[in-house]
Amino acid sequence: MAEFTLPANSKMNSGVHHKAPDGASNVRVFQIYRWSPDDDENPRLDKFEVDLDDCGPMVLDALIKIKSEQDSSLTFRRSCREGICGSCSMNIDGTNTLACLKSISEVTGEVKIFPLPHMPVVKDLVPDLSNAYRQLASIEPWLKSDNDAPEGEERRQSPEQREKLDGLWECVLCFSCSAACPSYWWNSDEYLGPAVLLQAYRWVADSRDDRTDERLDALDDSFALYRCHTIMNCAKTCPKGLNPGKAIAGIKSEIASR
Ligand code: SF4
Ligand code: FES
Repeated sequence: MAEFTLPANSKMNSGVHHKAPDGASNVRVFQIYRWSPDDDENPRLDKFEVDLDDCGPMVLDALIKIKSEQDSSLTFRRSCREGICGSCSMNIDGTNTLACLKSISEVTGEVKIFPLPHMPVVKDLVPDLSNAYRQLASIEPWLKSDNDAPEGEERRQSPEQREKLDGLWECVLCFSCSAACPSYWWNSDEYLGPAVLLQAYRWVADSRDDRTDERLDALDDSFALYRCHTIMNCAKTCPKGLNPGKAIAGIKSEIASR
């Protein structure tokens, strides 16, 4: 029978309210999802008051400040803090994005932060990406060439061949797009999802790769590829401005024209 309420252990409790230091005059409240596998507690929403006059401009700056000054147990991924590594993806103000590219000033009112949706949570804002990485490995995302590169030289491409990779190589594998895709929510065991399919097309489109047919054979599957119904949440949410839906259409078109 369909279940219309959350199981008791998924219901969110209100959490701890951390006050700003005395004298803070430019205070914003950050509501942050907390859950730990180390106790039997339900998830909770903690509130942190942050003095923006003493904080960097990005949501990641606020998270680092909160962890340094208010609660060192707050757990999130980050590395480069400039939109390159893809580690800090999370749901901020209702949209999947990178915390280091999201300006606090873009958010009105309290800043609500959750982990990427529809993925198991490891702790707090850290999603379990094991399935997504298994799927990435399955498309074999590396160059497969039948010939060695010319001695001492790179493998050359014409400007037109190189241009086909634009809009693909910039992906930082943050999985914001996959976590925003309803088809991926319901079928992530078999549907590869927008992030991995964009990576797959990156190799299909590469003139230096010699296994295009083999790659397209592997992708030509009613679940792995064709669960994409061009809902296009992927393109709307991508913090790098990429269009995974277009890449998926590129794969379908390559398969149809064989
Ligand atoms: S396409 Fe965009 S949202 Fe998707 S994984 Fe790549 S950078 Fe992230
Ligand atoms: S910390 Fe690297 S993308 Fe945000």
